[in-house]
Amino acid sequence: MSDVLPQPQQVSSQEDAFFDLGPDTALVAGEGTGRTERWLRATLGAATGLPLAPSAGGGGAIRLALDAGLPDEGYRLVVAPEGVHLTGGDAAGLFWGAQTLRQLLGPNAFRRAPLPDRRWRLPLARIEDAPRFRWRGLMLDVARHFMPKDGVLRYLDLMAAHKLNVLHFHLTDDQGWRVEIKRHPKLTETGSWRARTKYGHRASPLWEDKPHGGYYTQDDIREIVAYAAERHITVVPEIDVPGHSQAAIAAYPELGNTDVIDTTALAVWDTWGVSPNVLAPTDAVLRFYEGVFEELLELFPSEFVHIGGDECPKEQWRSSATAQARIEELALANEDELQAWIIQHFDTWLTERGRRLIGWDEILEGGLAKGAAVASWRGYAGGVAAARAGHDVVMCPEQQVYLDHRQAPGEDEPVPIGFVRTLEDVYRFEPVPAELTPDESGHVIGTQANVWTEVMENQGRVDYQVFPRLAAFAEVAWSALPAPAERDYAAFERRMAAHYRRLDALGVDYRPPAGPLPWQRRPGVLGRPIDGPPPNK
Ligand code: ACM
Repeated sequence: MSDVLPQPQQVSSQEDAFFDLGPDTALVAGEGTGRTERWLRATLGAATGLPLAPSAGGGGAIRLALDAGLPDEGYRLVVAPEGVHLTGGDAAGLFWGAQTLRQLLGPNAFRRAPLPDRRWRLPLARIEDAPRFRWRGLMLDVARHFMPKDGVLRYLDLMAAHKLNVLHFHLTDDQGWRVEIKRHPKLTETGSWRARTKYGHRASPLWEDKPHGGYYTQDDIREIVAYAAERHITVVPEIDVPGHSQAAIAAYPELGNTDVIDTTALAVWDTWGVSPNVLAPTDAVLRFYEGVFEELLELFPSEFVHIGGDECPKEQWRSSATAQARIEELALANEDELQAWIIQHFDTWLTERGRRLIGWDEILEGGLAKGAAVASWRGYAGGVAAARAGHDVVMCPEQQVYLDHRQAPGEDEPVPIGFVRTLEDVYRFEPVPAELTPDESGHVIGTQANVWTEVMENQGRVDYQVFPRLAAFAEVAWSALPAPAERDYAAFERRMAAHYRRLDALGVDYRPPAGPLPWQRRPGVLGRPIDGPPPNK
């Protein structure tokens, strides 16, 4: 009972009295509870083999209802002798309550078919719960290594099981363009695949000498967005401008700085790092990307649209007559202001269409519209500055919640990148910096863990980097934990013992506490380890 993860606000239970689910247990859905009803019947129905019929048949019932008196995304779960009363503050809260209900049924409730002779027994209990943050995110980089659609749907299920509600979908980068844009077909015909791929960090001598690629059709995206919405998850698309754009330039050479290099010679990038080949600051390029965003807005109903804005090298603009003429015409001071001008252009463009821009913290460097939000990745500083300037902030500092970074110091850690950030380090991550006033803290709308996939060539590698740390992250994002030093990590580890059994049943290739299994290692593949403690140590 106390094994629920993320930890609920209040739990009381009776360990010696139970409600048993059986073939006659009904699932009775009140008004506005259809999504959770569908999910429970499909998911618990598959795991238990029980019909969960819509009207009562003498075997008790799971009753779903809404009560606007409960908090946003909150729920109350009561297991009584005659059945389960699950009540949501809204439809999302009800769904998060259903996730808790599944956990109470034990690890076999996470399977897709029933094991023989299992009992589905719930201890009598009362749980009251609500999230700390409204943005509880996971960023998936499907550009560096493509994750086929099935894998994305699977990640949405894994997110839902952890009560995470924002998928930040990093769809474009130097190494690949992953979303079909009908008016610019070469973005995927050319931009969605590369001839070979660097295996390991960019200093590695190894190559995977086979083509890598893939993209989502617009119908795939519609399916992903709808599947997410059924799970109360918002998909926030990212199209990265004006840097991280080599795949787009390889597809349409006129997008690049044609007066500096021969952009027709560029291919989708096959190695890692920050490409110097960035977009040209021309009207034609702005119109091209407005077209991209027009199609994107049709596909993604999210309030926020992410425009990247990170790591744009300025060398080409410094030697481009076209870029310099633009700087002069706009009376800008330098290339940094030129970047800010591009970001502001899309800020205004999105605002006019009822959306809000979000970008990496570099976008702060030129002034933003009031509604724009900042994803603080280079530490806390960008987020602090943004919150003080009145912008909403999603905290995702690379020193804390970049899940590509290695999770142990050992030699066996596969392709070790970045800092050592253990499960405990993530558990002690605090999204709201102490230096913010209560008013400023209100601008920290949430937090997100970021998964960059340069050295994650398949789903197993993604799982290994993401789990178990995403469980600790989920508790940081959902539960009202005390200050980092006061967090009861031993109690979290006890909950994790139960959670590993759930992850096993789900088929997640997590990193076991004792270290990688033989087939999870990548002997001889060069990484780029960095030393340094997390900022809260
Ligand atoms: C980033 O890691 N470049 C946002």
